[in-house]
Amino acid sequence: MKLYMVSLGPGDYELITLKALKALQTCDAICIPTKSADNSFTRSMTYKIVKKLMDEYGFEKDIIPMYTPMKFKTDDWQRQVDIIEDSFKKYDSLSFVTLGDSAVYSTVYYLLDIIKEQHKEVYENSEVIPGVTSFSHASAKVKKPLCVGDSSFIIRPLHKRKVPFTTVYMRPKIGMTTDKIKEKNDIYTFENLNYKGETILEHKKEKVDKYMTLFIDFHNRNEQI
Ligand SMILES: C[S@@+](CC[C@H](N)C(=O)[O-])C[C@H]1O[C@@H](n2cnc3c(N)ncnc32)[C@H](O)[C@@H]1O
Repeated sequence: MKLYMVSLGPGDYELITLKALKALQTCDAICIPTKSADNSFTRSMTYKIVKKLMDEYGFEKDIIPMYTPMKFKTDDWQRQVDIIEDSFKKYDSLSFVTLGDSAVYSTVYYLLDIIKEQHKEVYENSEVIPGVTSFSHASAKVKKPLCVGDSSFIIRPLHKRKVPFTTVYMRPKIGMTTDKIKEKNDIYTFENLNYKGETILEHKKEKVDKYMTLFIDFHNRNEQI
């Protein structure tokens, strides 16, 4: 059993990662969200990308439509989880696809929260595949960096003023202490990701040993401001 949560990138099918493409090629069926109650994909960018990839790379998979009215209701996520769970009766491996990167305002984590609670085996056999965000793409389009040198950048939901936030700390100096980082929520240390000596710690390291270190203080999912 395997569940891939696949980030498709910002809409240009060439901006998908090889890992995401391989997941789509190797799984038995692909779960695709649709806003149409009749389960059609006429308005679905996600479907367009998957179809283009299947045509271009010569593979074909069963498509499982997931009706997603985008109303942010638990019932909607539960229904999608039920479809995934039900599909495992027929298929051994599934991909669920999402636009951009799964880390940014994606349904992926609403579904995984429920899956973690209700279907432990599926959760343990799930893998999230990251992708290119819409804003990385936008930045590249106009050749303007999101941050460079000592600047930073913020992502905010436009419809709300005060919101819980995640902070990513990058570009430390080797040997520096991290006491300046005020831990607010749930901080992790990531060292040498995908390099030799990759380490992920579920806390803030007190001293920086490697340049390739980043800290993420993840926002509290239950916090209401
Ligand atoms: C639910 S979020 C998903 C973000 C996505 N996971 C990502 O990595 O960019 C949808 C929001 O992302 C932005 N967005 C996504 N795709 C976009 C595009 N092709 N052009 C402009 N903005 C886009 C818009 O602000 C939109 O309201």
